[in-house]
Amino acid sequence: MNDESSLDNKTGEGRRQFLVAATSVVGAAGAAGVAVPFLSSWSPSEKAKAAGAPVKADISKLEQGQMVVVEWRGKPVYVLHRTSQQLASLATLSDQLKDPASASSKQPSYIKGDSRALRPEILVVEGLCTHLGCAPKFRPEVGAADLGGDDWRGGFFCPCHGSKFDLSGRVYSGVPASENLVIPPYRFESQFVLEIGIDSEKV
Ligand code: FES
Repeated sequence: MNDESSLDNKTGEGRRQFLVAATSVVGAAGAAGVAVPFLSSWSPSEKAKAAGAPVKADISKLEQGQMVVVEWRGKPVYVLHRTSQQLASLATLSDQLKDPASASSKQPSYIKGDSRALRPEILVVEGLCTHLGCAPKFRPEVGAADLGGDDWRGGFFCPCHGSKFDLSGRVYSGVPASENLVIPPYRFESQFVLEIGIDSEKV
């Protein structure tokens, strides 16, 4: 089954009931009208999470173009369901990026290529700017006038000192941040269940 279509078309009473219990919108982030819900993880306990345990999140409701934030080790982790157009744009940006191949950026060894993801359509990236740690805003609007107009293919913008990242979290040239956003260890426990903090190669 195609992952994208299944993510968009899933149904099931059990899943709906689960989502009611496990998710809640407790805040919003972003700019230019892009609201980013905070997706609660359902395990483990708050105490275990604080100690650094992996967290799980149900992404079955995450539609193409949408992003949610999951907290792991007290850090925001952005989970973005990229569209096919967004994925296609990644290969066109190399000459505008500091580290397009992520050669000197933090990510698990099993994360490779422009998509920087286990599943190309699902980006999982820490939402902390690699300059001084502010939270970059999700700015998916292609051609945003305040971010370079026609050159802007969508991405993340850090409001603290103006660093820009593409939709894989790769940093643009000419901004204060020097490294790409960090990809945390993660795996998919099942098609719709993402687990952050556990290494895909060690399970
Ligand atoms: S903290 Fe993001 S640009 Fe400085």
